[in-house]
Amino acid sequence: MSGFSMDWLALREPHDSRARNTQVLTAVTVSYKQHHTISIVDLACGTGSTLRALSPLLAARQEWRLIDNDRALLAAAAATPTPERIVATALAMDLNRDLETALDGPIDLVTASALLDLVSEAWLERLASSLAARSIPFYATLSYDGRIELTPRDPFDAAIRAAVNAHQRTDKGFGPALGPEAAAFAINCFQSRGYSFVHGPSDWAITPSNCKFQSEIFAGWANAAVDTGRLAAADADAWLARRRDAVTAGLSSIRVGHVDVFAVPMRTR
Ligand SMILES: C[S@@+](CC[C@H](N)C(=O)[O-])C[C@H]1O[C@@H](n2cnc3c(N)ncnc32)[C@H](O)[C@@H]1O
Repeated sequence: MSGFSMDWLALREPHDSRARNTQVLTAVTVSYKQHHTISIVDLACGTGSTLRALSPLLAARQEWRLIDNDRALLAAAAATPTPERIVATALAMDLNRDLETALDGPIDLVTASALLDLVSEAWLERLASSLAARSIPFYATLSYDGRIELTPRDPFDAAIRAAVNAHQRTDKGFGPALGPEAAAFAINCFQSRGYSFVHGPSDWAITPSNCKFQSEIFAGWANAAVDTGRLAAADADAWLARRRDAVTAGLSSIRVGHVDVFAVPMRTR
């Protein structure tokens, strides 16, 4: 079991899918137009959202290696219906311990979605070194970048945002997490190894009709804010109550900043 429930991943998937940056996605699909077969490794696949988002856009035969350390999520990922030309294999692995094993064998593309903000500088350097050594492209989507815009405004929004961003930097199993710095760090990391980039925003734009998603996000942020010790529980509870009232009244909307990146080595395999 990881800290990411099946329910939460199901709730966020349609928003992730809408948010994926189309320019970056197109750059990925165009890169593989000439390929007859593509071997893809999806790091921290969860229930398989990247397989569902990307595989229909690639014409070639595809061999997906889906990797996560949560067996329940992996089982759901493996159950994703796919046409015959797409074969997906699920592997349970701790990517902090066994990253290099996960990247063993022939690979044309490595993907990751909503992962980079959880990992540390050292882990991302390790990933970049492993991929650069074999000239493998990297498509990383939905890295949180620290931007949170809320409507209607509340006097405690800034304190909540600061606390959430501090919580994002705490260890999520890979060492001190990059949190909001993840995409910028990834770009530097791969650029220094000779990669070029297509990148762009993939923000969640959550409208008043998405009440359940909003309520889950606000509850998570209030908890995170208290966990950091930066906000008194009473202040976080009061903020959450005001936010819930706005959701119930159909007045609440949220924008959460994310970044998508496609990093391409000078020379591909
Ligand atoms: C935010 S979820 C993203 C899941 C999926 N990529 C998506 O976009 O829906 C983060 C994922 O990282 C996985 N994860 C966290 N730590 C891990 C580790 N050390 N090794 C492998 N997977 C890990 C979790 O189980 C979870 O599925």
